[in-house]
Amino acid sequence: MSKKSMQAIVVNEYGGPNVLKVKTVERPQPKTDEVLVRIVYATVIPLDYKIRNGWLQTVFPVTLPYIPGFYASGVVEEVGQSVTEFKPGGRIFGSISGAYAEYGIAKEQELMAMPENLTFEDAATIKAGAETAWKALFADGELQSGQPLLLHAAAGGVGQFAVQLAKWKGATVIATASTSNLDFVKSLGAGRVVDYTTTKFEDVAKDVDLVVDSVGGETETRSWAVIKKGGILVSLTQDPSQENAEQYGVTAKFNTKFPTREDLQNLTNLIAEGRITAKIDSIFPLNQADKALEKSEARHGRGRILLNVNSI
Ligand SMILES: NC(=O)c1ccc[n+]([C@@H]2O[C@H](COP(=O)([O-])OP(=O)(O)OC[C@H]3O[C@@H](n4cnc5c(N)ncnc54)[C@H](OP(=O)(O)O)[C@@H]3O)[C@@H](O)[C@H]2O)c1
Repeated sequence: MSKKSMQAIVVNEYGGPNVLKVKTVERPQPKTDEVLVRIVYATVIPLDYKIRNGWLQTVFPVTLPYIPGFYASGVVEEVGQSVTEFKPGGRIFGSISGAYAEYGIAKEQELMAMPENLTFEDAATIKAGAETAWKALFADGELQSGQPLLLHAAAGGVGQFAVQLAKWKGATVIATASTSNLDFVKSLGAGRVVDYTTTKFEDVAKDVDLVVDSVGGETETRSWAVIKKGGILVSLTQDPSQENAEQYGVTAKFNTKFPTREDLQNLTNLIAEGRITAKIDSIFPLNQADKALEKSEARHGRGRILLNVNSI
């Protein structure tokens, strides 16, 4: 049987947007415990441009050439012999390696079936967006009803869900965003939105139980002082300074505890039911992945950027 081909984005060398090339490559074959997915929407996340730029070669090595993309929604095309949960035609989302392509491969346990009322667009925002927000707030962040918290980068692909989920939990949200995103973040349910371009967040947020920081650098440095003793700082970008944590009497975490599959199912249902909404910043076709990553790297998105690869 002749091997089937597909269109994919291929990276042969690290660099800027122009290293993302559209190529015809061999379609991958699922191993016995794997699923071949026909990609509908591939999720564009900051990790994609960080890897492409070659910034993460020590902590997140990839072998060149590679097809970018870690997460997607799509339809099951073919399953390996030992796969029991999914069948061809099933609507799924999850961790799918090489998602910037017409077809990608996933391990069975990395996929979730989509509830009937969940759209492919919304499904593609869950991994590394809603799920990360859940991790930061509830798994790492131990957030309880009634607690005040400070959420940085509240308009982003993670932040948009963090604001809504914290509100859903009954917490009091203070969020940061730039001027053009203030109304958007307010509409998500933040009690107070700080325009970080004009106002120091330290002047507004004081004695919070939790800071979720997806900005890092100076934002992290200035965040310690707003946390009450015994509180928690969750970083999504870097291993936070344990020296500072000790000095301020708080706990600092980076990817220490993850949502369970049951958490992910609950979260998916909240989104499918429209109780938590997903804002899509923009959708690009696969052959404009360079433009999508350029937009992502500009770091002022509102919601999640997607690549539309195949029609439904
Ligand atoms: N550890 C993990 O599991 C994990 C998972 C997902 C993401 N991440 C990381 O978390 C970070 C955010 O991811 P994302 O997907 O939400 O990114 P994104 O969708 O690109 O959003 C970035 C947001 O940052 C905001 N922003 C930029 N500078 C800011 C500042 N100084 N203060 C406050 N907000 C600022 C922007 O809003 P304005 O226009 O309002 O500035 C934008 O909405 C990335 O570094 C990503 O790699 C980590």
